[in-house]
Amino acid sequence: TLVNLASVLRQAEAGGWAVGAFNCNNLELVQAIIRAAEAEAAPVVLQASQGAIKYAGLGYISLLALEAARTARVPVVVHLDHGTSFEQVIRCLRAGFSSVMVDGSHLPFDKNVALTRRVVETARPVDVSVEAELGRIGGTEDDISVDDRDAFFTDPEEAEHFVRATGVDALAVAIGTAHGLYRGTPQLDFDRLARIRDRVRGTPLVLHGSSGVPADAVREAIGLGIRKVNIDTDIRQAFTGKIREVLAQAPEEIDPRKVLGPAREVAVEVIRGKIRLFGSSGRA
Ligand code: G3H
Ligand code: 13P
Ligand code: ZN
Ligand code: NA
Repeated sequence: TLVNLASVLRQAEAGGWAVGAFNCNNLELVQAIIRAAEAEAAPVVLQASQGAIKYAGLGYISLLALEAARTARVPVVVHLDHGTSFEQVIRCLRAGFSSVMVDGSHLPFDKNVALTRRVVETARPVDVSVEAELGRIGGTEDDISVDDRDAFFTDPEEAEHFVRATGVDALAVAIGTAHGLYRGTPQLDFDRLARIRDRVRGTPLVLHGSSGVPADAVREAIGLGIRKVNIDTDIRQAFTGKIREVLAQAPEEIDPRKVLGPAREVAVEVIRGKIRLFGSSGRA
């Protein structure tokens, strides 16, 4: 069933768990995410980045995701991940997404507020949820030194002003995670997360870059108010790793189904493990 993000986050907030948000860009990944969520009886977020939309085409990816949601035995949110313009958001609203992220985190505070507010004012009347970002999450290639943390990480006081000024349904925070693979072990600023949570009371928080974050740290973050956890890289690694393995064992294989089928299966296992870690199993 297609649902919006706000409805799932309300349930997550009441129960003290987090919904898994998994990136997809092809049929096999969409199916893996839905199969995992159904096997765990968990609500789930199917999300497509602008890169995924460019790769698959908005028409194809939205038809896949919306058909997955329509036929799933669990609640499914179809979500735009890191939308960077108002126009991109509008295209996804028209395509039938039930949730959008508008990422104005690279903009000055006031411009981020203005863009996010405009998206909220447009999306709310059609019951589409809005996630925004404050602070710079970035990629692992942007090495953030300890001294830079205050400049890049989400400021709790700004977070309070931001949620009040925009009315967003969810806020992505920068507390030490990064997109992609980590070189070492990420050090999360839990104290900052607790202060943000205390300031934005009631607004669910989102953890990006969560692949490679140790399970204990993810649990602690959920204990401190994270209600949506984004995972991409861990699935890519498992999926592509399996393709390599299959092709190494059967270099003559030419049937894409024989290669992508096993990759889809390992993706299901990775996603089920995340769903259990986030505490969303059995919540559908
Ligand atoms: O936030 C980034 C997600 O992992 C999606 O990555 O832009 O390469 O599709 P992508
Ligand atoms: P990872 O690729 O590090 O899991 O990050 C995913 C993400 O934040 C998508 O928005
Ligand atoms: Zn992200
Ligand atoms: Na990561």
